[in-house]
Amino acid sequence: MPGNEIVGATALVTGASRGFGRGIAAALSKAGARVAGVARDRGPLEELRAQLGGSFTAVAADAADPVVAGQLIDKYHPGVLVLNAGATPLPRPVQHHTWQTFSRNWDTDVAHVFHWVREALLAPLEPGSAVVTLSSGAALRGSPLSGGYAGAKAAIRFLTAYAAEESQRAALGIRFVSVLPQLTAATALGAVFAAAYAARQGAGGAPRTDGPALTPEQVGQAITDLVTRPGMDQDAYLLTATGLAPLT
Ligand SMILES: NC(=O)c1ccc[n+]([C@@H]2O[C@H](COP(=O)([O-])OP(=O)(O)OC[C@H]3O[C@@H](n4cnc5c(N)ncnc54)[C@H](OP(=O)(O)O)[C@@H]3O)[C@@H](O)[C@H]2O)c1
Repeated sequence: MPGNEIVGATALVTGASRGFGRGIAAALSKAGARVAGVARDRGPLEELRAQLGGSFTAVAADAADPVVAGQLIDKYHPGVLVLNAGATPLPRPVQHHTWQTFSRNWDTDVAHVFHWVREALLAPLEPGSAVVTLSSGAALRGSPLSGGYAGAKAAIRFLTAYAAEESQRAALGIRFVSVLPQLTAATALGAVFAAAYAARQGAGGAPRTDGPALTPEQVGQAITDLVTRPGMDQDAYLLTATGLAPLT
């Protein structure tokens, strides 16, 4: 996407059918991109296509499948790739997790970022393209009711930084940036945890949604700004309802 030009560029968004991903797909489409949206359930993707029109393509697929990552990178060669898909962990204290439930976000969120980032570097995507990954504010301070979620999201931030370094070393010109949104009850995933922490508060749990709630529309606008505005060149950003803040 040379010159941060979004009009007519191809964007691919994983987890596009609801929540943040839907807001991101809608904002990129509104800015003029042709958007391919990936999720497993086709129904909500078709609803989004009815809303956004012919510039949106619905792709029903498992984004954590390495074959899907390879096929879709080969097919779309996106100028903007947003790796947003994520599983909702069981909201339980650590001793109530099994290893399988604890590691759920490693098997989906981290595995999917790993497969797609690798394919983006190997393709390679065009110089000037941007790969944005969704980490979480939980990566900075933990999330004691969601098993391995916070560690998985911290690994996504690391993975993204490693890819940025490889891009630079090989002079590929692909930008890799991670975004760490604050917890918000405005999505299906966030509502589960906002409720779980609110229920635990009386027993000493800290509230996790201070300040105004972050909306999917704000996330969509922030990520569109990140890939189009000059000067937004940090490796990682915290995202709250007041906007993006660089993390060093
Ligand atoms: N909401 C928050 O408070 C918050 C805060 C920080 C970070 N985040 C991160 O932001 C991202 C989006 O969260 P959200 O709250 O918008 O979640 P959400 O409302 O639960 O939406 C998740 C999306 O990901 C898709 N998805 C899940 N597994 C998938 C897979 N294997 N392959 C393809 N698509 C898959 C879902 O569609 P299907 O189920 O149909 O596949 C859906 O479109 C996640 O990575 C999450 O960890 C969220």
